[in-house]
Amino acid sequence: MKEALKLGVAGLGTVGRGVFKIISDQAADIRERTGREVTISAVCARDRSADRGIDVSGVEWFDDAAALATSDTVDIYVELIGGEEGIARASVEAALNAGKHVVTANKALLAVHGNELAALAEENGVALNFEAAVAGGIPIVKAVRESIMGNRIKHVFGIMNGTCNYILTTMEREGRSFEDVLSDAQDLGYAEADPTFDVGGFDTAHKLALLTSLAFGTQVSFKDIYIEGIEKVTAQDLASASDLGFKIKLLGVALDTGHGIEQRVHPTMVPADSPIADVHGVFNAVALRGDQVGDVMLEGRGAGEGPTATAVVADVLDIARGFIMPPFGRPTSSLVPYKRAGMRAHEGGYYIAMDVHDRPGAVAAIAQRMAEQQISLESIIQKPLMAGGREESVEKPDTMPVVLITHDTLEQSVKAALGQIEEDGHIARTPRMIRIEKL
Ligand code: HSE
Repeated sequence: MKEALKLGVAGLGTVGRGVFKIISDQAADIRERTGREVTISAVCARDRSADRGIDVSGVEWFDDAAALATSDTVDIYVELIGGEEGIARASVEAALNAGKHVVTANKALLAVHGNELAALAEENGVALNFEAAVAGGIPIVKAVRESIMGNRIKHVFGIMNGTCNYILTTMEREGRSFEDVLSDAQDLGYAEADPTFDVGGFDTAHKLALLTSLAFGTQVSFKDIYIEGIEKVTAQDLASASDLGFKIKLLGVALDTGHGIEQRVHPTMVPADSPIADVHGVFNAVALRGDQVGDVMLEGRGAGEGPTATAVVADVLDIARGFIMPPFGRPTSSLVPYKRAGMRAHEGGYYIAMDVHDRPGAVAAIAQRMAEQQISLESIIQKPLMAGGREESVEKPDTMPVVLITHDTLEQSVKAALGQIEEDGHIARTPRMIRIEKL
């Protein structure tokens, strides 16, 4: 049997604890599958005395993650600290420079520095694996990097933030406001320490940046992602969407437009009978379309101890078997510079909700502005005020909620029409616009 493979784990939070448990509980199975012993030889965390429910007494303790990452007692550095800069970045760079394999769950680090880190891993002939960074326990990195290699991918999209999906699902089911349900999500421990990372769409965008590169062979380009969070979605929007046969989901979408790759994160109306609409609560799902395989969707838990640790351990075991791939599935030097497809040219249908002053001609004037931009309307719904626990979308008593659904049109036309409608003074506040996708 080959000699034991030794892990150095930095960060002993939820995921680190899960990795410890799997490596110890499944030791015999791991030995059988990989042909070698896999052990945790060293750890590093903030507080040595904290009770984590795992026994770290027989494991070498480091106070400095960079020292752990380069220690002779470590073959694979497992980075579970998080954050795009600071010690997470420094320790991963140190490990790669020292010729250590790296397994990480750090989506922010790779979304921002993925190109340089992947090149560094290749230069040093080591792995940089990150299955846990994208949708936790869903094996989507492996699926895109390996299983669907023989395809041209048309699009990849997904629900990649459990906090947002929990909030939207609960707002819809219970007719409650965004703020109210966010506070539940925080109490339940779903949201990140700073919830703006979740609800503002940034966490989804970090994951999307990695998926785009894997799917389309482009350099990672987080800064080019159009990002809009769920903060402005109201219970009224969710109810209107439901009436119209849609659900609202925060999607990350990467799409080959034929003239560049469009990358975007925003609340999206999806048909209620589509598979992605059926993904509820904290669950994540990632879907893609390949020219040979057709549509594929994987659904599962995107966070939490067991799911995320499963992904980390799978990455470790690939290395134990001697299976080492370039991080983004092809040599880093062959990743092409990302060519952005502009959002203003995005084509699709739109949901537009407005509070219209209740006076003759107002709706007709709005329809006229749409027509001037060549926007064809699928429906106009003038909704009465919602009763009961539903959030009121109307601030002033002389206004009526009006919902427009457009046929496919260009985003720049919608923006232009809405700008004119606001100027005309027929509406009480800035309209809410949600893109409709029938991916
Ligand atoms: N906070 C994330 C979520 C999990 O809510 O899905 C880690 O990315």
